[in-house]
Formats: sequence, structure tokens, C-alpha cells
Amino acid sequence: MRTMHFFILLLLYTIDTELGNKRYCFFFKFEMEDQKCKLSPTTSIILILGIIYILSISPANAAMAVADTRSSLSTYIIQVRKPTDKHFATVEDLDSLYRSFLPTTAASSNQEQRMVHSYQHALSGFAAKLTAEEAKAVQEKDGVLQVHPEEVLSLHTTRTPDFLGLHQGVGLWKDSNFGKGVIIGLLDSGVFPDHPSFNDEGVPPPPAKWKGRCDFNGTSCNNKLIGARSFINPINATQAVPPYDDTGHGTHTSSTAAGAFVRDASALGNAKGTAVGMAPLAHLAMYKVCVDDGCPASSILAGFDAAIEDGVDVLSVSLGGNSKPFFKDWIAQGAFAATQKGIFVSCSAGNSGPYNTSLSNEAPWILTVGASSIDRSIEATARLGNGLEFDGETLYQPHNFHPALLPLIYPEIDDRIQDCAKGSLRFRSDIRGKVVVCDLGSTEPVVAGQEVKDRGGVAMILVNGLTDGYTTLADAHVLPAVEVSYVAGREIKRYFNTASTPMATILFKGTHIIRRSVAPAVASFSSRGPNRQSPGILKPDIIGPGLNILAGWPFPLDNSTNLFNVISGTSMSCPHLSGVAALLKSTHPNWSPEAIKSAIMTTATTFNMEGRPIVDETLHPADIFATGAGHINPSKAVDPGLVYDDGPQDYIPYLCGLISNESQIEVIVKKKVNCSSIGSIPDYQLNYPSITVSFKPSVTNVSVTRTVKNVGPAKSRYQSVVDPIKGPVSIGVYPRELVFTEANQTASYRVDFTREVDSKAPSPYAQGAITWVSARHSVRTPIAIVFE
Ligand SMILES: *[C@@H]1O[C@H](CO)[C@@H](O)[C@H](O)[C@H]1NC(C)=O
Ligand SMILES: *[C@@H]1O[C@H](CO)[C@@H](O)[C@H](O)[C@H]1NC(C)=O
Ligand SMILES: *[C@@H]1O[C@H](CO)[C@@H](O)[C@H](O)[C@H]1NC(C)=O
Ligand SMILES: *[C@@H]1O[C@H](CO)[C@@H](O)[C@H](O)[C@H]1NC(C)=O
Ligand SMILES: *[C@@H]1O[C@H](CO)[C@@H](O)[C@H](O)[C@H]1NC(C)=O
Ligand SMILES: *[C@@H]1O[C@H](CO)[C@@H](O)[C@H](O)[C@H]1NC(C)=O
Ligand SMILES: *[C@@H]1O[C@H](CO)[C@@H](O)[C@H](O)[C@H]1NC(C)=O
Ligand SMILES: *[C@@H]1O[C@H](CO)[C@@H](O)[C@H](O)[C@H]1NC(C)=O
Repeated sequence: MRTMHFFILLLLYTIDTELGNKRYCFFFKFEMEDQKCKLSPTTSIILILGIIYILSISPANAAMAVADTRSSLSTYIIQVRKPTDKHFATVEDLDSLYRSFLPTTAASSNQEQRMVHSYQHALSGFAAKLTAEEAKAVQEKDGVLQVHPEEVLSLHTTRTPDFLGLHQGVGLWKDSNFGKGVIIGLLDSGVFPDHPSFNDEGVPPPPAKWKGRCDFNGTSCNNKLIGARSFINPINATQAVPPYDDTGHGTHTSSTAAGAFVRDASALGNAKGTAVGMAPLAHLAMYKVCVDDGCPASSILAGFDAAIEDGVDVLSVSLGGNSKPFFKDWIAQGAFAATQKGIFVSCSAGNSGPYNTSLSNEAPWILTVGASSIDRSIEATARLGNGLEFDGETLYQPHNFHPALLPLIYPEIDDRIQDCAKGSLRFRSDIRGKVVVCDLGSTEPVVAGQEVKDRGGVAMILVNGLTDGYTTLADAHVLPAVEVSYVAGREIKRYFNTASTPMATILFKGTHIIRRSVAPAVASFSSRGPNRQSPGILKPDIIGPGLNILAGWPFPLDNSTNLFNVISGTSMSCPHLSGVAALLKSTHPNWSPEAIKSAIMTTATTFNMEGRPIVDETLHPADIFATGAGHINPSKAVDPGLVYDDGPQDYIPYLCGLISNESQIEVIVKKKVNCSSIGSIPDYQLNYPSITVSFKPSVTNVSVTRTVKNVGPAKSRYQSVVDPIKGPVSIGVYPRELVFTEANQTASYRVDFTREVDSKAPSPYAQGAITWVSARHSVRTPIAIVFE
């Protein structure tokens, strides 16, 4: 039985880690969910063996193996309906209600060991250890809505403030007081509390509403890091488990959101400068919900629960799973509860790009953040024997590497990609002393370099695959190495195949800030829409810095004392937006999460530093399903003029329109919903800061209504400007002008989309925008059109 379990676990793990963007397959720890990797030969063999193995056992046995029945307990998440005739005043009342759902077998045997988490806000329900039979029995009980087996989600793994236009002493930082008084909570892998980024100089004590606690021993918490708890161990643990960061991810994300100023930060001597988070005077609270191999859903929900209870203002969630209906999506459910309490929730979009419909965290009450590049390059150049040079990146820049030409080799095996996986060069005797070309594949770049080094290779040129395009990562390699674009790689391979004695070397060029660059460009790994769960809501919402980001790290990368690392992922872009949200919250304490999101989206930039439309990893203009509203522009976001300001109740008719089963809505909303009395709207009619309409084949007209609120000067007049749309659709906006005479006044407008009959759409998608322009403001609402 044990071998079988192990086998199935191995199988699941392999599937899990190999699906998705190739680069991140083994980055699993930091770099999130992966859906589209090609299966490597080894995996294919394991898969085939696994299938044969499973087929060889009887269906009953197979079910038993997966569900783990009888003697063994596993964690289940149980969602229940609270009786309306009783009041649950205390946590203890709630706890005893939940315990009443435990099966008698579990109740009699050592109840304490069965309850794992008892949720107060994030979910109407609890997590408990049950056998499969018990879980079935619980499912049958009156008042039980859903019973789900535990699920493990994954983490989506300084110059950015300057790049985003935040400067000391002026503008938004000054106006928002650097985020003073705002509490940012993070659900992550824990934190290294003694990091200089968590120095609390100038940070006032937490506001009176703060109810959280710090489970580090002694004086590790301060006015910067005001809370730290772990939800990895059972709540009944007699001694609090300190939420130390064992991966580095949580230290990196929290210092990105609200790290203090740290001078002379660098990683392996590169990206030197003052490191600082987006909201340097905001408070941080860490909720550890992830360990090395992932983030259990029951822990994530416990983290949401505690953060809501403790009184955070912003929640930063750099993790996720695959796209799931919201009633099965734990982050969507925890975030819903948080948003209902006025907490702003920012989540990573996922690292499964560039493939479309690869998003995580698609619910409209979440800010979904994609990743883009910044204007900094940690440069190295591959020089070939024929004099051609190709620029790329690497974090490891050895000063003592002599750039003499050396023999070049591309150890290709039968046309397959050679990603220099561990052991793959074992039988090659021709690696020693050479510069080795490796394809970026499912092997982590640093592991590929180690393989080359182990076989005596002197240097490595890592070449991007087609889907990686021009996105290059600066990794902490173990040998002289450079990662180059797909196009450069093709040229290098052509040279290798045609030259009689191919030669190459690498020139290390250090860190450069490129003033006129294509930054911000969408990173290849950044997950793309359209939104699978709610096609009428455009996702991602926004992009922000997520490629080669320097931030805090729990241990030095070299012999220096510098505790920083450069890593990439939508995990890195999410906390940038969390920090910006904190700055807005500090400036406008009364703004709702929806108003903050609207301000961020309607002021986003759609142009790069060259003044051209933002591009993606192909260097062609990125589509709206890659960028959402565009790139974050904090200084504009603080003064948006108009906002789409929904109330928490507006999501109910939206959910009634999206989901026909009222029990499934109840699971999300945590109370009984009667859609026929509340009414329902189609998803595209939610008052969202973007518009997505679909034309079914027989439909020619679609009308959408939106309502904006004046948060600019009391007397303002706005006129609509419509971006021309490439596609057989005309757009009418009514009225053409919005006139406001008071602060907080609202006005509605209608957009009529008319499809030209008898004309075929050149592409199934079209995009554009409506911008409301006044003397001082420009409020841009992006539009996506889908022809079904
Ligand atoms: C907590 O759970 C552990 C096992 O998970 C059990 O041994 C212990 O008795 C429980 N402690 C309390 C105080 O309930
Ligand atoms: C905290 O410190 C006390 C006294 O130094 C020690 O006994 C205890 O084990 C520590 N707890 C943790 C969780 O490190
Ligand atoms: C998504 O991918 C499919 C197949 O590759 C393609 O036909 C479609 O146009 C893509 N959609 C978008 C929005 O790029
Ligand atoms: C780090 O220190 C060790 C031992 O002191 C030394 O062998 C090694 O070369 C040093 N590494 C670097 C990058 O300086
Ligand atoms: C409605 O949803 C609940 C909870 O997920 C489920 O148990 C039930 O079967 C669903 N009902 C229908 C008619 O689909
Ligand atoms: C839902 O509301 C409608 C209209 O108000 C009412 O007729 C119906 O009885 C309600 N259903 C339930 C289950 O309460
Ligand atoms: C669609 O819109 C066009 C132009 O506004 C109008 O002439 C036509 O009557 C509309 N059709 C329907 C079915 O509403
Ligand atoms: C506008 O509304 C906000 C709350 O959203 C409130 O704090 C503010 O005082 C209002 N301003 C005016 C002028 O009514």
C-alpha cells in the first residue's frame, strides 16, 4: 500500500511540476502553477508506467489508493450552513457548531486531533481530519454544503520605486506619507524577521484597531513587522510555531510591498542601490501558509481568516492554483470575505504564460496582477567566433573570467531540446573545456549550469525556447553563463552547425539602466486571459514589475553579508501592487477596495518608455489579455478623477447571473441567497473598471451600463473619447458628456456595441478603450470584444 501511495504521489507531483511554462516547471517553489509544459521523456515513461500500474489494480483498489480510506486520515474542508435561528457570538460557539458536524466515530475518538482549523470569516466551515468514509457521512448531513479533500496550491514565484516614478520628498510618497498607518498582510512562506528591510525606523506603532500577534520569540517583531503567525501546524499546537521563511519567497514579497530603505543593497554585486518597498512606512503582517512543497488550502483559508480578524487593510497573495469555478476556488472565497470587510486583495495572475486562458485568481473582487520588465538589465553578451554578439542576462558576473574564444558545443540529441537536465551530459566526453549551448527547458537554469560545470564545461549559453521569446532572466548561475533570446539562440545554433571550428565566449557587462527601453514589456511567463470562470470580466487587471526584481532574502547568495536576491514571477509583481494600494489607502482612508482598484486601472499606462504601445515577449504589441488595463502608474492612480465604486452587495446579483445553483453562491457569500428576489445581472454588467462583451453568432447589439463617481474637483466636465477598434463593431457612448457639480456625485453612461452585419471578424478578439477626459483627468476604461 505504501509503495502504491508513494508511486501515485510521485506521479501527481510530476504531472504538477511539468505542466505549464517550461522554465518554471522545477521552479515550483517560487514560480507557481504550470499548465503547459511538454512532458519530458522521463515523465512520459513515468506516466505510462503509472497508467499501466493503475489499470493493473481493480477500480475499487484504485479509488482506495487515491482517496486514502479506512485507517488513514486526511484533511477535508467542510462548508456548512449556519442555522439562522441561532446567534454565534463567540469563536467557541462557532467551534461547537462545527464540531457537531463531525461524525460520531470521529467525535468519540480523540476529537481534538480531528479539528484542523475552525473558520470565522474566510469560510462558513472548518477543516478536519477524516477518513474517506467519514467524509462521505459528513457530506450526507443536514446543513453541509460541500466537502472537499485538501488541496495544495503553489507560490507564484531596487530600482522599482524609481522606475514607477516614486521619489523621496516629492509626489505620491510625500502625499501618502509613504503608506503610514496602513497594514499590509501577506499570505506567504513566512518571513526572516531580522532582515534590514524590516527595520522600523520612523514607523509609528500600529493603529488601535490592530488585533494581531507575533509568534517570533523575543524582539523580532517591531513597528514595521507587527504580526507573524504560522498556519502550517494545527491550531491546537501547544506552542506557537514561529513563521520563519524557509524558501525566501515571503521575505522577498514582503520587502517588495513595504520594505524599509536599505542602502548598498545588491545581489552578487549587481543591481546595486538603495532597496526599498513600495510603501516604506506601512506595517507588515506575515501569515505563513506555505512550506517548501506548497500551500495547503486549509492553511490559506486560516491565513485569510486571521488577517480579516486582525484588521489588515491590504492582503497580498502571491500564490494560486489552476482556474476553478469560484465555489471551488479557495482564494476567491477567502478574498470575497476579505473584500466584504473592506480589505483590498491583490493576487498574482500566475506564471503559466504565454498561453492564453492560463490565469489563476480570476474573481472580480480580486486585483489580478501580471508581470512585466523594468528598465534595468543585468547584462552579459555571447560573442561568437565570427564576431557576432548577442546580449543577454545573468546575475552571476565573474570578474576573473577571461573572455578568450573557446570551442563551442551544442550537445543536441536527435532534434530534441537539450535542456542540460541533471545527468543528461553524463556520457558526453566532449564537454570539457567548452562553452556549452543549452536550451531553456523544464530544467531550472541554475541546475542546467551545474550539469555543464560537473562535466567540465567552462561556460554556458542558455537559449530561450520559442515561447520565451525575448524575456531573459538574470539567474544566480554557478558558472559563467548568459541567457539569450530565442532569436539569438537560433543564430547561435546556426553558427554552430555551419562553422568549421565554432568558438564563443561571454563578456560580462554588469548592471545597466536603459532609459529608452521597451520596458515595461510583458514577461513570457505572465499568465494570460481570457477569463475562464467569468468571461465578461477582463483579467489580468493590471501589470507591474515582476522580471528580475531585487528584494530581501533570508541568506546571502555569496560570501558577502548582502541579504538580497533577484528573482522573477507574478509573485513579485503582486506585492508591488499591494504596496501601491497601501499608498492609496493612506491618502484616501475612506476609499473602498473597488475604488482603489478602479483608480489603479483607469490611470494605467499603455505605452512603454519609447512612447510606443507596450509589447510582450515577442516584442510585438501585447494584447489586452496580457496587459489588462496596462502598467501601474502610481502617481496618476492617487488622483483618478472618477472611480467605478461598487459596494460589497453588488457582487450578489453578479453571482446570481454567473452561477445558477444557489447553494454554490451560498458557499461563496457565506449566507443564503435568494436570486429571484435579489435579481441577477450578466457578468459584463458588473460596474467594473473594464468592459468585456461577447457577440454570439446571432447577436448584433450589446449595451453595457457603467456608473462613475466624482472623486476629483466638485465641478468637473468630462467628454468621452473612443479608441478606434480594429474589427467590425461600432461603439456609441451616451451621453457624450458627464457633468458633475459636487464631490461624490455619480453619473451613469451607456455603451452600445453594434456588430456590422455580413462582415466577418478578422480575429476572434478586438480591443479598444473609452476615455473620459476633463481638463485635469483622463479616465481610461479598456474594452475587450469577443466574437464567438
Ligand atoms: C493537538 O493535536 C495533537 C495531534 O495533532 C494531539 O496529540 C494533542 O493532544 C492536541 N492537543 C490539544 C491541546 O488538544
Ligand atoms: C522561545 O524562547 C524561550 C526562552 O528563550 C524558549 O524556551 C522557547 O523554546 C522559545 N520558543 C521558540 C518557539 O523558539
Ligand atoms: C488563444 O489560443 C487559441 C489557440 O492557440 C487562438 O486561436 C486564440 O486566438 C487565442 N486567444 C487569444 C485571446 O489570444
Ligand atoms: C567564499 O569563501 C570560500 C571559503 O572562504 C572560498 O573558497 C570561495 O572562493 C568564496 N567565494 C567567493 C564567491 O568569493
Ligand atoms: C448545487 O450545489 C451544491 C453544492 O455544491 C451541490 O451539492 C448540488 O448538487 C448542486 N445542485 C445542483 C442541482 O446541481
Ligand atoms: C425567493 O424570493 C421570491 C420572490 O421574492 C419568493 O417568491 C420565494 O419564495 C423566495 N424563495 C425562497 C426559497 O425563500
Ligand atoms: C442595433 O443598433 C442599431 C444602431 O444603433 C439600431 O439601428 C438597431 O435597431 C439595433 N438593433 C436591435 C436589434 O436593437
Ligand atoms: C465623499 O465620500 C467619502 C466616503 O466615500 C467621504 O469620506 C467624504 O467626506 C465625501 N465627501 C463629500 C464632499 O461629501
